[in-house]
Amino acid sequence: MTREGIRNIVILTGAGVSAESGLATFRGPDGLWEGHRVEDVATPEAFRRDPGLVHAFYDARRAKLQTVTPNLAHEALARLDEQWPGELLLVTQNVDDLHERAGSNRLIHMHGQVKKGWCLRCGNRFAWDGAMGTGAECPSCGGIGQVRPDIVWFGEMPYEMERIDQAVRDCDLFVSIGTSGAVYPAAGFVQTARYCGGRTLEINLEPSMGSFFFDESRMGKAAELVPRWVDELLA
Ligand code: APR
Repeated sequence: MTREGIRNIVILTGAGVSAESGLATFRGPDGLWEGHRVEDVATPEAFRRDPGLVHAFYDARRAKLQTVTPNLAHEALARLDEQWPGELLLVTQNVDDLHERAGSNRLIHMHGQVKKGWCLRCGNRFAWDGAMGTGAECPSCGGIGQVRPDIVWFGEMPYEMERIDQAVRDCDLFVSIGTSGAVYPAAGFVQTARYCGGRTLEINLEPSMGSFFFDESRMGKAAELVPRWVDELLA
């Protein structure tokens, strides 16, 4: 994959890009996500059924985030963002803040952010540090106990889909990093990019579910392969 003919780049990242920072991926070998079934902690139904459990889960994710730092893959993507002269959009499915801590600016969190809250009373979204729990007070309207983590759960619409879809259609190069390709709509971006004439590259520990859609697949750890790919592109 050379730089020739590439101006617009869209990069999709998933849990694999944060794995080497010490954050668990979703679909690990035991099929559990930090000891929970996804449907027990990541659906609106789960939140209605047992808000205490869901808050405890995301409070723990938020606390864990304080103990980890961006790895070489996040840093390389931030370097690319800073130095790439053309259009670039980094779309992450991750709810951690490691991309922005590394310095990425042209970034969309399509599945929300664990360090943000969303008040179901006034509709506002805001930064949130520390525990949220069931009795949190909304900093906008003062309502008590109606703040939820600003996470896109299963069955909910990911954020900024129109902007993402346009960028994927317009890109010359689509790169997927550290995602299993199990969750739509993100899993379908590669097909849109291809259909619209973009080149496609996958960087992942193992072939993703949609691996055969990519022009090129590089298998290995993101913290090793992503800096190498960024060097190639910026050379
Ligand atoms: N480097 C590169 N890839 C890695 C690494 C690594 N160090 N470690 C793991 N991977 C790969 C795994 O092989 C796997 O294919 O990263 C992928 C992670 O897949 P998932 O755990 O399914 O995570 P992701 O694709 O981000 O999940 C998508 O599912 O539960 C929802 O909303 C949640 O955003 C999440 C979505």
